[in-house]
Amino acid sequence: MSSDRFMLDLYTNPYPWYAAMREQSPVLYDQQRHIWNVFCYADVKRVLSDPAIFSSESPLRNRSAGAQNVFAVSMINSDPPLHRSLRALVSQAFTPRMVQNLAPRIAALIAEMLDALTDQPSFDCIDALAYPLPVMVIAEMLGIPVEDRAQFKKWSDVFVSEVNLGPRVPNPEMQQANRELGAYFASIIAQRRKEPRNDLISALLEAEINGQYLTQQELLGFCALLLVAGNETTTNLLGNLIVTFDEHPEVWDALHAEPALVDSAIEEVLRYRSPVKAMFRFTREDVELQGQLIPSNSMVLAWIGSANRDETVFPQAQQFDPRRAGNQHIAFGYGIHYCLGAPLARLETKLVLEALLQRYHSVRCHPTLPAEPVQSPITFGLSKLPVQVRPL
Ligand code: HEM
Repeated sequence: MSSDRFMLDLYTNPYPWYAAMREQSPVLYDQQRHIWNVFCYADVKRVLSDPAIFSSESPLRNRSAGAQNVFAVSMINSDPPLHRSLRALVSQAFTPRMVQNLAPRIAALIAEMLDALTDQPSFDCIDALAYPLPVMVIAEMLGIPVEDRAQFKKWSDVFVSEVNLGPRVPNPEMQQANRELGAYFASIIAQRRKEPRNDLISALLEAEINGQYLTQQELLGFCALLLVAGNETTTNLLGNLIVTFDEHPEVWDALHAEPALVDSAIEEVLRYRSPVKAMFRFTREDVELQGQLIPSNSMVLAWIGSANRDETVFPQAQQFDPRRAGNQHIAFGYGIHYCLGAPLARLETKLVLEALLQRYHSVRCHPTLPAEPVQSPITFGLSKLPVQVRPL
């Protein structure tokens, strides 16, 4: 297969490749990119949750260059014990209760976006809803002025492309975004130190364990991480949900008849079309997986999207089943780095789906205008998704 064709399949339908790899090469060394790829559920779980061997600290990231890199101290790139203390501090401010309190505001934002589409039989649901919603929610949570949102989006896009390309030496565009974002958050943090408000940055400034507070660099790292981790992922989940339901239009009727199915349908989309395809780790020592020796200091790619289709774990794994019981998907990761934003992503998606069900019989992919995939080896979703709606 040509490499262009392979990449297109990876962006649009990687599932036949995953199935072949699980069967033939569950642990595969890519000689060109020098990456070990891991495809089966049990192995992916192990790689994600064993930081003593599979580290999240990229050897390419230079922590001493912290002043230029807002991610220099970020929990997603840290191992214990640093990860433990960062996560404990941040968890004091970013609580499930705080997320639940956001529900009325998120519902209002969704209503505003859908009101603006009234009388439009078709629209791009990424541009109109799935993209702006998560950015607006994070900006509001952090307490960032609404008028700075466009700038926020620009930085987010630069960082997402960095994530998509995998860990590497930063480029000039990245360095500029780093400087700008660092200065931007530093000024907001300074304002909140003087005059705390009812927002996440103020709560992060107060978070404390045994007299220990987050440092300025740690605060910057977390704000930048939220911007990246919380944005494209949720957009992808919303787009993936629309596409999956389009392949199974009977799901719209089932959800209208039985609204209690909403939660399990969302979990099944997370499994069936996981918005994060894969995550990186770096081996700290030689390790054997599926009879293969992975040497110390290797880059390992844990294919979450493949693990979630593993037939040995999920009965009828290649079928979308919105009623699936005991759905042990790992779309939000597994172990100490389990997604901190999972309750928020689930809440946003549930509120969107409920709002769509209140207004429309169904939301279908446009019959002639094509969808476009996000071109990323790491994330999985749509950058354009024109839809047609049938109002109730
Ligand atoms: C559908 C949406 C989302 C998906 C599929 C997703 C997926 C993931 C995954 C797979 C990880 C684990 C990374 C690893 O093991 O290295 C992770 C971590 C994380 N996610 Fe999410 N995420 C989503 C939404 C969000 C949102 C909305 C936020 C915040 C607003 C967020 C914040 C984080 C943070 C802070 C971490 C790092 C946790 C740690 O290192 O301890 N995510 N996410």
